[in-house]
Amino acid sequence: MADTKARIGVLISGRGSNMAALLYAAKRADCPYEIVLVAANDPDAKGLQLAAAEGIATFAQSHKGMKRAEFDAIIDGELRNAGVEYVALAGYMRLLSPEFVQGWANRMINIHPSLLPAYKGLHTHERALEAGDKMGGCSVHVVTAELDDGPVLGQTEVAILPGDTPDTLAERVLIAEHQLYSRVLADFVRRDARQG
Ligand code: GRF
Repeated sequence: MADTKARIGVLISGRGSNMAALLYAAKRADCPYEIVLVAANDPDAKGLQLAAAEGIATFAQSHKGMKRAEFDAIIDGELRNAGVEYVALAGYMRLLSPEFVQGWANRMINIHPSLLPAYKGLHTHERALEAGDKMGGCSVHVVTAELDDGPVLGQTEVAILPGDTPDTLAERVLIAEHQLYSRVLADFVRRDARQG
């Protein structure tokens, strides 16, 4: 494996706790990736401040009033200018244009708060509780043209407790997300390095 670290761009829309988990994991000397850019479609996204305080380059551009492909082209340009090799979506609440997805094919992953293929889209915890599921959880998958549909790279099951609400379940699943995402991202870039 090359001794240089894989360059990651993270896209967020809000809190950015998964981005923070990726960032903190990257501080270990043996982590095979580094975060070189955090970009958001909302200039007020809380995660931007956190990334900036850690010395990471940030970019923010509101998508409001822009065509999807036009907006995505701006984000794509920022990622390419920063020398990004892989994109990690972390609570990025935007549907992506086909051009953007194609441009990062097999180089873009996402974390989703359900055990895919169950509960693609929004309100995953609510739906798991309504269905009477015993397990919730999270998945990291490769991003393809269909929403939350690409090959699953890793999952963590989280037991549902009696009396759980969507919020209490979300809180525990988030702990699992933070652990899963950095591990899967590290494996993903290592696998590529071996094949490359
Ligand atoms: C996470 O639950 C993630 O799985 C989902 O959106 C939430 C983002 O939270 N896609 P954060 O911004 O990473 O804190």
